[in-house]
Amino acid sequence: MKVLIATEKPFAAEAVTGIKNVFEKSGMEVLLLEKYTSKNELLDAVKEVQAIIIRSDIIDAEVFSAAKELRIVVRAGAGYDNVDLEAATKHNVVVMNTPGQNSNAVAELALGLMVYAARNMYDGTSGTELKGKKLGIHAYGNVGRNVARIAKGFGMDIYAYDAFTPVEAIEKDGVKALNSAEELYETCQYISLHIPATEETKKSINFNLLNKMPRKAVLINTARKEVIHEEELVKLMEERQDFKYLTDIMPKNDAEMKEKFAKRYFSTPKKMGAQTAEANNNAGIAAANQIVDFLINGNTKFKVN
Ligand code: 3PG
Repeated sequence: MKVLIATEKPFAAEAVTGIKNVFEKSGMEVLLLEKYTSKNELLDAVKEVQAIIIRSDIIDAEVFSAAKELRIVVRAGAGYDNVDLEAATKHNVVVMNTPGQNSNAVAELALGLMVYAARNMYDGTSGTELKGKKLGIHAYGNVGRNVARIAKGFGMDIYAYDAFTPVEAIEKDGVKALNSAEELYETCQYISLHIPATEETKKSINFNLLNKMPRKAVLINTARKEVIHEEELVKLMEERQDFKYLTDIMPKNDAEMKEKFAKRYFSTPKKMGAQTAEANNNAGIAAANQIVDFLINGNTKFKVN
């Protein structure tokens, strides 16, 4: 059996070794496609494989049509908005993610961005501290929980809103659960986004919601760029000189944001929340084990389609 690791943004080398070990022990052949620059390279590489490990790589209907032998795709990570689930199901392909495996890495970056904002992007001027400030965690999943755990160490006052997590599950962590996104944004100076990109959430972080935030608001995005209403964010930041936006997912209007809001806007050059050796190891090896367990034992735990 052949497995492809298709990562436009490669895993750390030690994670690739770990993944290869898992497959080789099970007698599977591993193909590696890293840093590819055209879709054709991907279409070519998927032709004869039964399984694929990906990160944010786009797996659409065309890829499924080209992958005639494919039985499983595992997204080594949390969000699977990059995979066309309908096309997968049509082609009888199982899609899985590896929930929780990279969430500490993303949460650490979220806190790092908060410190960066509080210290005025390290420009040498006098900043502020996170201690005692209100942090709103928008969606309390694996990353949100880790953000709460770390933010507690900073002495922040922590709130969360999640439409799907029971209040008790949030409050047992010493986090105050609020009843709506509006209430969260009204309450918190810092907001950390952890919602997935779905039809319901796309562009949902808009002018009206963000304008509810108190003075000296800081919005941290380590989730997805699609959830932001970009035009309305520009309008808001033009109207509110006190508002900062720091993101790990470069928006389409990055150049405009940089030019207009030099001291209040920051974006990483490439999404790097999960870009640590530990996260790559955890998510990559979990993905490899899930593939082996599916191909050999038919285990479909973590299936998302
Ligand atoms: C995820 O959904 O797991 C994160 O956004 C990480 O994505 P990446 O694997 O492309 O870094």
